[in-house]
Amino acid sequence: MSDGTPGRPAGGPPGFHTMWRDLLPLGRSAASGGYRRYAWTPADTDCRAWFREQAKARGLTYEVDRNGNQWAWLGDPLAGGAVLTGSHLDSVPDGGAFDGPLGVVSAFAALDELRARGATPRKPLAVVNFGDEEGARFGLACVGSRLSAGQLTPAGARELRDADGVTLAAAMERAGYDPEAIGPDPERLARVDAFVELHVEQGRALDLQGARVGVASAIWPHGRWRFDFRGEANHAGTTRLEDRHDPMLTYANTVLAARKKARLAGALATFGKVAVEPNGVNAIASLVRGWLDSRAADEDTLAGLVAAIEQAARERGARDGVDVEVVRESFTPVVEFAHALRDRLTSLITRSGPDAVPVLPTGAGHDAGILSAAVPTAMLFVRNPTGVSHSPAESADEDDCAAGVTALADVLEGLACR
Ligand code: GLV
Ligand code: MN
Ligand code: MN
Repeated sequence: MSDGTPGRPAGGPPGFHTMWRDLLPLGRSAASGGYRRYAWTPADTDCRAWFREQAKARGLTYEVDRNGNQWAWLGDPLAGGAVLTGSHLDSVPDGGAFDGPLGVVSAFAALDELRARGATPRKPLAVVNFGDEEGARFGLACVGSRLSAGQLTPAGARELRDADGVTLAAAMERAGYDPEAIGPDPERLARVDAFVELHVEQGRALDLQGARVGVASAIWPHGRWRFDFRGEANHAGTTRLEDRHDPMLTYANTVLAARKKARLAGALATFGKVAVEPNGVNAIASLVRGWLDSRAADEDTLAGLVAAIEQAARERGARDGVDVEVVRESFTPVVEFAHALRDRLTSLITRSGPDAVPVLPTGAGHDAGILSAAVPTAMLFVRNPTGVSHSPAESADEDDCAAGVTALADVLEGLACR
């Protein structure tokens, strides 16, 4: 995408292309080509510095809220009635470049486009970077927005631990933030009239419909469950098969059962993370810990699916002489985006753009879903030609990103400038 946005004065803020180029190397693994931008790590600090620079380059009022979320304001942050846009900059392990950053870069670019159009905001506009959306380090997604919306207690957040046992409180402190300050932020959220999060699509619905941009209808309910399979460590070369209590067998069987039951339920179940103790080639494992991510169109289907997977695990565990314990680590209920705001977005985009804007549900979680309990919230999706996400192969075409910026600018203009 060219940096020469029409109407931008020479020496103006960096355009989309420059913002994207500057962000691209931050937290990128040379080995995988994917991103490792985990909360409160040096890579996260670099992304935060980039955000602060973007605010500064535009003369926006820069703030960090009590939960470490970054805000950049055009207009008076205290005036109320604000229109908020943005997303997150952190990533899953070896994530793609677009999940999160596309929403933040597009937000700054859309503000630039409004200025270039000569649109005068009647309401404050703000760009946000919500911290720790992916939950890659501490296991719980959307920590920044959950804290602000009062959906996570400060004590619960502070005690979250990463794989090395470092608490979220210690990690925040090391990064220069105050973990004692975290907590609900109702006054700040009350100053926001609408939050619009632009996000790369994480499926192929737009591509299949030949559309560059879509609007979200709903987010499927989803959650994370930790399955602990406890057996008995023993020698791989001397223990008779009949004498083993091998939790790997129970785990493997549970993975297969989850896949089958999800297919039968028309839902999704994924074991994408596993930890084994003692993790030796020539030792039968004593513990296999697997994390189930499961999602479905409605909460009853999801509850039924997880119960069925748990039952399959217990039945197999009984055969293998393995104890099974299941702990729900997080749950996000179904989100149905408010129809009025969603329809407003569609009509604002189609005024000067495409004839039709697909309205789609998604199985992916977002800060917009968390905030929707407190603030009228909507989402825009930008076409992903392969549908691949949470992978270095995630992509979006330049023209589609440009269409996303235009659509977001149309929406912000309609919501804040008329
Ligand atoms: C976040 O991207 C999630 O859906 O888990
Ligand atoms: Mn994601
Ligand atoms: Mn995301």
